Amino acid sequence: MKGRIGRRAIGSRLGTIGAVAAMLLLSACSPGGANAGLAENAGGPSGAAEAQPARKLVVGLSLDTLLEERWKKDRDLFKAAAEKLGAEVDVQAANGDDAKQIAQAENMISRRVDVLVVVPHDAEVSAAIVAKAHRAGIKVISYDRLILNADVDLYVSFDNEKVGALAAQAIVAQAPRGNFVLIEGADTDNNAHMIKRGQLSVLQSLVDRGDIQIVYDRFTKEWKPAEALANMRAALQANGGAVDAVLAANDGTAGGVAAALAERGLAGKIPVSGMDAELAAAQRIVEGTQTMTVYKPIRKLAETAAELAVRMAKGERVSTDRTVFNKKIDVPAILLEPIAVNRSNIDATIIADGFHSREDVYRHVKETAATGK
Ligand code: BGC
Repeated sequence: MKGRIGRRAIGSRLGTIGAVAAMLLLSACSPGGANAGLAENAGGPSGAAEAQPARKLVVGLSLDTLLEERWKKDRDLFKAAAEKLGAEVDVQAANGDDAKQIAQAENMISRRVDVLVVVPHDAEVSAAIVAKAHRAGIKVISYDRLILNADVDLYVSFDNEKVGALAAQAIVAQAPRGNFVLIEGADTDNNAHMIKRGQLSVLQSLVDRGDIQIVYDRFTKEWKPAEALANMRAALQANGGAVDAVLAANDGTAGGVAAALAERGLAGKIPVSGMDAELAAAQRIVEGTQTMTVYKPIRKLAETAAELAVRMAKGERVSTDRTVFNKKIDVPAILLEPIAVNRSNIDATIIADGFHSREDVYRHVKETAATGK
């Protein structure tokens, strides 16, 4: 899976949602949402007295899964943001089942949602959802994960290549040479490929120089911690325990890696990366069994996507200052900034942001100190 990130010349990077709004080119002249006409009825110039109450815009949110910590946050924040803008959100989660995700999306399309926001389980299979939505005149936003080989209308995510580069930089700073293990994400998720590309952008020259050997490199089925644990055990086994650093694609997989290292008495002895700033990972970071995580401020993602979804539902045109190639088209894209988090900046980042409370993050450390365990 190859993706290319393009950049058009207008404007700079996005910081706040205000900035997002400022740089959008909007035109309200051609309502394109399936129900846009209905929504714009009230108070129209042709006789306010007869106007019907406006029907609420409906945003369909099709999620791969709600079985992982981060997606529940995405759902809650997205829903709250869209509702604040006056829209309703119809949430469906397929929990890793492609056929179910397509059926749920078809259902929302036949109920004529005004716009569809999709977190695809499978980057390629979900192209069918885009084709079906378009046949019904409904626009599709790819949320966090890019749908490939489809005429996606907008992609809102983080800079996933940067996620991989930040992780690799942090790990190389701790282990500039030696045997590296790559525990990647799900092969079916384009993010996993972008993250790997970002990691290799940092590692490749060190590999070429002979400083680093990549001794094990596997995708993790469904991003499952248990799969990552099994792969990490295999990596340790194959190398007689001689592993100097691990790049784990997210915090779930890092949890599996940490467990495998603990079985060999290696917990906290070699650097391990992650992503998502999950609570368990933040706790591992303060305990010293995970080196870093990459924090992706999900509130910003959810609020940006909700705002743009509502605009698209109203038939406004949205354009961005960059694109990402999805093997078919250059998809207009908004890529937010990920942030590297380690023990020294954890307070200033995820705790200061209210992503987790200080109490929760340090709970185990304090309990350990108090009980002397
Ligand atoms: C997301 C990650 C998440 C992973 C597993 C990826 O597409 O970007 O934040 O950890 O999926 O759900």
